[in-house]
Amino acid sequence: MEWGMANRMAQLIQSDGHCLFLPVDHGYFQGPTRRLEEPRKTLEPLLPYADAIFITRGVLRSSVEPDSAKPIILRVSGGTSIIGKDLANEGITTSIEEAIRLNVAAMGLSIFVGSDYEHESLLNLSKLVDEGEKYGIPVMAVTAVGKELEKRDARYLALCCRIAAELGARVVKTYYCEEFEKVVKGCPVPIVMAGGPQVDTELEVFEFVYDGIQKGAIGVNLGRNVWQNDFPVAMIKALRAIIHENATPKAAQELYDSVKSGKQQ
Ligand code: 5RP
Repeated sequence: MEWGMANRMAQLIQSDGHCLFLPVDHGYFQGPTRRLEEPRKTLEPLLPYADAIFITRGVLRSSVEPDSAKPIILRVSGGTSIIGKDLANEGITTSIEEAIRLNVAAMGLSIFVGSDYEHESLLNLSKLVDEGEKYGIPVMAVTAVGKELEKRDARYLALCCRIAAELGARVVKTYYCEEFEKVVKGCPVPIVMAGGPQVDTELEVFEFVYDGIQKGAIGVNLGRNVWQNDFPVAMIKALRAIIHENATPKAAQELYDSVKSGKQQ
């Protein structure tokens, strides 16, 4: 691996082989998502605990100080909205020159396997990988399902992840699911887990993150289940403990409760 690519991958994946990415890119198709209405306010308390942030260029420029040393995964696909015809009809929205100017650690793009725009989104990925590889910038593929959340089973996600890896993604972001080990087994590049809509309890999040890591995911790219929680700092600290210290879900819950009640910072 070239030095630049290796250096960027090392910025993303920590020396223990794990990572906690914090996505705040949701506005690119959802607009002002709940508790991300003012991205700077959402981000500021959480930034110290994230290994990298997943963000569009607009929110990066407006809401993150350039002297922040936090690695950036730049969201470079879009062109659709939640009220439009089809969320899968994405294009590449940001040039490689812009990614270089913004000094990013990686670029992220969604693929929509099985959708009417499968072909376009997979070619978008291939083109982005070609551009990224020229300059040593890794691509994270996002296995997106649009509004069809029920698609998230092991057979489908294994297909998406494998295709993303075959087309050259250096990291794949996918959903946790039952039989998650099958998804990991079939994907020759590292997998990070997304959360999806906020679930009912913190413990559910700790349990799936813990289980996913045991089954081979290297970490998370978890947004709403962190910053839509009433105590986002407690949440991200507890997740860090699972990801970087191998804490059990029970220990993570205790840490969450203790930070929440102010007993621990
Ligand atoms: C939005 C994304 C998000 O980065 C991804 O879905 C992770 O966020 P969450 O945990 O909130 O699902 O790709 O398009």
